[in-house]
Amino acid sequence: MSIRPIIIHPDPRLKKAADPVTDITDDLRRLADDMLETMYDAPGIGLAAPQVGQMVRLIVMDCVKDEGEAPRPMVLLNPRVTWSGEECSTYEEGCLSIPEQFAEVERPSQVEVAWLGLDGQTHTERFDGLWSTCVQHEIDHLNGKLFIDYLKPLKRQMITRKMQKLKRERARA
Ligand code: NI
Repeated sequence: MSIRPIIIHPDPRLKKAADPVTDITDDLRRLADDMLETMYDAPGIGLAAPQVGQMVRLIVMDCVKDEGEAPRPMVLLNPRVTWSGEECSTYEEGCLSIPEQFAEVERPSQVEVAWLGLDGQTHTERFDGLWSTCVQHEIDHLNGKLFIDYLKPLKRQMITRKMQKLKRERARA
């Protein structure tokens, strides 16, 4: 396993829709392993393949927060929301591609998601709380959408300018 570099916004790869997974290959398994390691190392609770420059519909997540609780690394291929609850909730979201920037985003509190597992089986699960926000945020990445796209243009531009500055600084370092 290895840690892969995370692409920082703005970048055209973060604005493009990713392609469906058609075959579960060794390369895909390696990508999923690397993404989990990259996510835990960051540290973060979710990561989508386009964030490491791979334009496939693969996300990883683990929203277990309690120290004493066992980790729950999840790998979701071709995930899609099959049902959304009517109730909404607001979370302060962040993104590994937009480091150190946070903003409140409103999303459905509960969603049901269907996906293909690395086992080749179709899985369906209902998520709520942080898991629900996270899975919706990560599926957005597969459609070229970032959490800042939910914000007012001025706020979005402010964050984008900060990221451009950060990238310039990193390039010089
Ligand atoms: Ni993100």
